[in-house]
Amino acid sequence: VKDKNGTDQILLQNPKGASVKISLHGGQVLSWKTEKGDELLFTSSKANLKPPHPVRGGIPICFPQFGTRGSLEQHGFARNKIWLVENNPPALPSFDPTGKAYVDLVLKSSDEDTMRIWPFSFEFHLRVSLALDGNLTLISRVRNINSKPFSFAIAYHTYFSISDISEVRLEGLETLDYLDNMRDRERFTEQGDALTFESEIDRVYLNSKDVVAVFDHERKRTFLIRKEGLPDVVVWNPWEKKARALTDLGDDEYKHMLCVDGAAIEKPITLKPGEEWTANSDPLEDKRALLEFL
Ligand code: BG6
Repeated sequence: VKDKNGTDQILLQNPKGASVKISLHGGQVLSWKTEKGDELLFTSSKANLKPPHPVRGGIPICFPQFGTRGSLEQHGFARNKIWLVENNPPALPSFDPTGKAYVDLVLKSSDEDTMRIWPFSFEFHLRVSLALDGNLTLISRVRNINSKPFSFAIAYHTYFSISDISEVRLEGLETLDYLDNMRDRERFTEQGDALTFESEIDRVYLNSKDVVAVFDHERKRTFLIRKEGLPDVVVWNPWEKKARALTDLGDDEYKHMLCVDGAAIEKPITLKPGEEWTANSDPLEDKRALLEFL
């Protein structure tokens, strides 16, 4: 399929009717629907789908920089680029394709403009996979094909679609330290129980366990975010004032979205020439970062 700007999109469907839509613009998942047709991801009605503008919604991939922590454009360039479908993807030993619909995308070392600001050769392989039970899995592998080392940060900036921001609860971040982006990235420790929301929030929680959960009581829905090799969790909601300042977000739309990202931000990942990002330090583990939604 093509969107109205002529960018290719890929539709994955499972036999029960669940589906996932992925755009080559950013290698970005734009839609994830249950077998009943309910949309699980938020995309703004004002989203600008025209590359290189980043798309407000779905799962933008922030790479190789998160936010403004570096000299690159906000959240790096990966979400603004056109990715390619990989026809002969390298084998992923621990990936069992049984009953799964999947696609492999790749982003290779970038154009001259990007090389000027980020002069490293890399390959970013992304597999998006939809299982029979409707679970969505994203597997990323980053390879250094350069002659010098480089470091990067990564985040799956996931916009969950929720009934009402004031009614949801986020569990799994209790007692963790976090960097508050609203206070010069100062470090704090989470004191309360589950997180609830009543104003703007923009934080990077550090070293979280591998499952966090968003409870949406009104919709009787729970999102489980399972991640491997991604120690940090970003939590973001712009709330009213910031939402008004964002031209690609409707004034009231902040109520229906919550960003919860699996991420590696505080400690950038460094790859030597020829190395591939290993999400797990156990050398027997497959080299991957897994963000799975159950
Ligand atoms: C968050 C950042 O994760 O993403 C925020 O911490 C930022 O500071 C937000 O405002 C949205 O970023 P963007 O570039 O998609 O508007």
